Amino acid sequence: MPHRQKVLLLAPLGRDAAVASGMLERIGVASEAYPDLASLQRAVDHNSLFIIITEEALRAGSLQPLAGKLAAQPSWSDLPVIVLTQHGGGAERNPGAVRLVETLGNVTFVERPFHPTTFLSISRSALKARQRQFEARARMVELHESAENLRMALLAGRLGSWDLDLPSVIFTASAPCTAIFGRSRLAWDDLLDCIVPEDRDSVAAALRHPAPQAENLYIAFCIAWPDRSLRWVELRARVIRDEGGRAVRLVGVATDVTDRRIAEHRLRRLNEELEKRVVARTRELKQAHASVLAEIEQREQAQKQLRQAQKNEMIGQLTGGVAHDFNNLLMAVLGNLELLRKHAPDDARTQRLLDGAFQGARRGAALTQRLLAFARRQDLHLQSSSLLDLIRGMRDLIARSVGPGIDVRLDLPATLPPALVDGNQIELALLNLVINSRDAMPDGGTITIAADEPPDAAAGLASGRYVRLIVSDTGTGMDEQTLARATEPFFSTKELGKGTGLGLSMIQGLATQLNGTLRLLSTVGKGTRAELWLPASAADEQRPALPAPSMQDGAGVGRLTILVVDDDTLIASSTHHMLEDLGHEVIEAYSGDEALTVVRQNPEIDFVLTDFAMPLMNGVELARRVRSIRPDLPILLATGYAELPRDAFNDLPRLGKPYQQSELSREIAKAVRAPLA
Ligand SMILES: Nc1ncnc2c1ncn2[C@@H]1O[C@H](COP(=O)(O)OP(=O)(O)OP(=O)(O)O)[C@@H](O)[C@H]1O
Ligand SMILES: [Mg+2]
Repeated sequence: MPHRQKVLLLAPLGRDAAVASGMLERIGVASEAYPDLASLQRAVDHNSLFIIITEEALRAGSLQPLAGKLAAQPSWSDLPVIVLTQHGGGAERNPGAVRLVETLGNVTFVERPFHPTTFLSISRSALKARQRQFEARARMVELHESAENLRMALLAGRLGSWDLDLPSVIFTASAPCTAIFGRSRLAWDDLLDCIVPEDRDSVAAALRHPAPQAENLYIAFCIAWPDRSLRWVELRARVIRDEGGRAVRLVGVATDVTDRRIAEHRLRRLNEELEKRVVARTRELKQAHASVLAEIEQREQAQKQLRQAQKNEMIGQLTGGVAHDFNNLLMAVLGNLELLRKHAPDDARTQRLLDGAFQGARRGAALTQRLLAFARRQDLHLQSSSLLDLIRGMRDLIARSVGPGIDVRLDLPATLPPALVDGNQIELALLNLVINSRDAMPDGGTITIAADEPPDAAAGLASGRYVRLIVSDTGTGMDEQTLARATEPFFSTKELGKGTGLGLSMIQGLATQLNGTLRLLSTVGKGTRAELWLPASAADEQRPALPAPSMQDGAGVGRLTILVVDDDTLIASSTHHMLEDLGHEVIEAYSGDEALTVVRQNPEIDFVLTDFAMPLMNGVELARRVRSIRPDLPILLATGYAELPRDAFNDLPRLGKPYQQSELSREIAKAVRAPLA
């Protein structure tokens, strides 16, 4: 027992106090004696165990202060008072005792002289009673503390407590709860009044009729504050049921969740926004990726085209060189054959052999022409020509070439600007295209030959006016790979011996050399369309065709002394023989320098026939220098090769290689008669 808990004694006379104190000490209870009522009254506090007071001491002073103090005790406290009376002091015999009980409350009377056992027994009961009071005090403190903790917890959680008695529909709310609803009071009707109309009935029903078996209840709804601001509130409650399981009461808390709701809403919006951005960004990335891929593809395509062009250029150069040499050789062969025919015995067998040799050499010459065309090295005779006339003029030949199973249609405009082309070569190109179409239609079909003036130049062409020659067919068409390779030299899908694979490459070479282009469009199973784009001739480029010579043959030029200049001795000698055979005198020279010397030393020379392509000094340069010596001397330029510079001497009369004796004779005659350029 703590030291401060003690019994308060007031027994001023004799040994009463000492005796009582001694007896109490025996049962382990501390006590303190006071001299008078006033000092005892001052000592009374929460730790006082009980009071022992003698009757006479009570009478010695005013009881009022002590009575007042006892009356003001806290609810748990009822301090026991033991009054030691005189003989016969029992309450039943002592009217003063009744008054004392009323004044001091919890009073027990013990009559003197008392037996120690009696005294101790009464003291023990008083002690026990007081200890029960102390326990009650402790419980009350605990209760108070937990109630206070709960209150603090609710405050901290911003929760307002409430309860609803279901049978009577009495709603009770704590002050914090009332505040959440923005009201000064919150009875059931006030609560309903707060709730926005659309939620009101459902909330009332949920509160008044909790689901059977439900232990807990949760509802969230929207309320309007008196200032009309809207807020979100959540109610959580425990459902209390009677023995029959009927819900009788809800005890719960309310929370204002407006901020949380707003935050949730914002978060949701933010997420949606983020998702949208991710989608948009992904789309952008995809697009960027696609365009990068497209660029790569384009670049690869361009590189492929460049490689193809370089390859073609190389093959062109190679082919051109070979074809040029071949041309010269064939020339010599043809020239010599021609002479041989004249002088050989006139029997059938010899003539047949000669014919075979001629045919072979001519086919070789035709092939070299195609090679030169592909290599863009053929000697073109540019003239302003009407494509319409050209096409119409070829109609019969075309019809014969394709045969009866194929319908040839012309789709031509009424007028078309003339094209600056070499008519013969264009005819050849048209024939090649038509034959390709024929070969693509083994079971027949339609070939349409059209011409027009497209509004714009095709990609890759210089700006300007163009005319277009179009050959379309309803044949097999080409797959992508074939189409890509169709213009490659020697590419052919035709069986061995049927196609050289030079047709389209030649046409493309020709088109390029004419500053135009060839375009091919094709669909497998549908057909092919070949477009030959050619520059329209501008007025100042139009060259009138040379006036036709009155005589088509070489007769009547008389006997001439002709200087033949060629770096190739084989050709020089073959030409020499041809000319001699025609009755002319011939001097050979094998270079420009040599030729000039000959011209200077031989004033009897009437005519110069020179090759163009010679090392050191070409035929045009030679012609220029010959003219400075003999301005009146006619000069004929032999060429199988398109490398003539475009200057004044370009107008020199020309003779295409390989030439035959008749052509040679005719061109010499023309050159002799033509006025000098
Ligand atoms: N109109 C077309 N329809 C279908 N395929 C075609 C057509 N024109 C050309 N081709 C294809 O292109 C290839 C090359 O044509 P190209 O004219 O260059 O050579 P070729 O016709 O085979 O031989 P050549 O013309 O020397 O006799 C042909 O073998 C064929 O496969
Ligand atoms: Mg062909």
